[in-house]
Amino acid sequence: MPSAPDAGGSPQHPDEVPSPTAAPELSQEGVDGHVEAALAAIGGAGDLDELKEARLAHAGDRSPLALANRAIGALPGPEKAAAGKLVGQARGRVNQALARRQQELEAERDERILVEEAMDLTVAPGRRPLGRRHVLTVTAERMADAMVALGWEVAEGPQVEAEWFNFDALNFDKDHPARQMQDTFFVDPAKAGLVLRTHTSPVQARSLLDRGVPLYVAVPGKTFRTDELDATHTPVFHQLEGLAIDEGLTMAHLKGTLDRLAEAMFGPGTVSRLRPAYFPFTEPSAEMDFRCFVCRGEATAPPCRTCGGTGWIEWGGCGMVNHNVLRACGVDPERYQGFAFGMGVERTAMFRHGIADMRELIEGDVRFNAQFGMEI
Ligand code: PHE
Repeated sequence: MPSAPDAGGSPQHPDEVPSPTAAPELSQEGVDGHVEAALAAIGGAGDLDELKEARLAHAGDRSPLALANRAIGALPGPEKAAAGKLVGQARGRVNQALARRQQELEAERDERILVEEAMDLTVAPGRRPLGRRHVLTVTAERMADAMVALGWEVAEGPQVEAEWFNFDALNFDKDHPARQMQDTFFVDPAKAGLVLRTHTSPVQARSLLDRGVPLYVAVPGKTFRTDELDATHTPVFHQLEGLAIDEGLTMAHLKGTLDRLAEAMFGPGTVSRLRPAYFPFTEPSAEMDFRCFVCRGEATAPPCRTCGGTGWIEWGGCGMVNHNVLRACGVDPERYQGFAFGMGVERTAMFRHGIADMRELIEGDVRFNAQFGMEI
């Protein structure tokens, strides 16, 4: 049967234009059947991917309803309107159903993502490396803490110090060789009389003048000498100073105090030992060692690596405060006496943690410091 003339007059390829008689899909039942099939597929789509497939099959270019729509063009004029309405409404229902299901599935997906990808924002971040306080800071604090536990106060003084406090008040003569011995950094201009303090001992005089007697102060701080940087020297280092002035203090108090500090730093039973020495600001003066906490002084073969087999480890200097220092600070040495000591914080940290090279302490490699954990 010849096909009816096209309303628009444009010729169509015979393959693409199903003849009306061969298009039962344009019957009410046919169209309803397509709609039903489409609605079933849409309703049955479990997720957005399945819905996409359903859309392609039932509303795509090659879907039965699209083909039916195209077939309308081939109908004779009077039937066109009715068929157009029938198919148009059918496609409308399918598109509405698609839109509704799309909305439902998107909402479901969003809800699922909220659950599946939920993040607990209160969990501590694991990947960001935690900062740590430097092992020297912590060691100096530990040392000062041990003194505070004995009832002492913590004092501080300036790093750029008056020569008078660094030397004169401490009984160094103007041309005392110790002034050179100390390898001092002098600060310009020379007539200002300023140095980078070569030890924490100037805070002895400052504390005596500021706080008066009786006095028990521990002074952690940065100190400077013109040393080259190597495994055992650094031009910028730290000391802990101790000064006790009271009535009736003796060297026994000094020894007992050092024993307590040694124990606090290196473990129970660690004692100190004094060897005669000279400092202008103490009389008598001594170098002090602490008992090697590895071999405890017992001879071992091979010799202990920590103390070199001597059983003792050098720690610092100490002594009874020279009366000239007390007088320079307005304290009556007939009534008040006392003792002082000073030791390196670097050395203390190195022995506490088995650090072999002092440069590790100052090079600033975060991986080095991270080993010591987070101490508050
Ligand atoms: N200030 C001395 C030094 O740096 C140590 C010391 C302190 C000695 C207190 C005696 C008393 O070497």
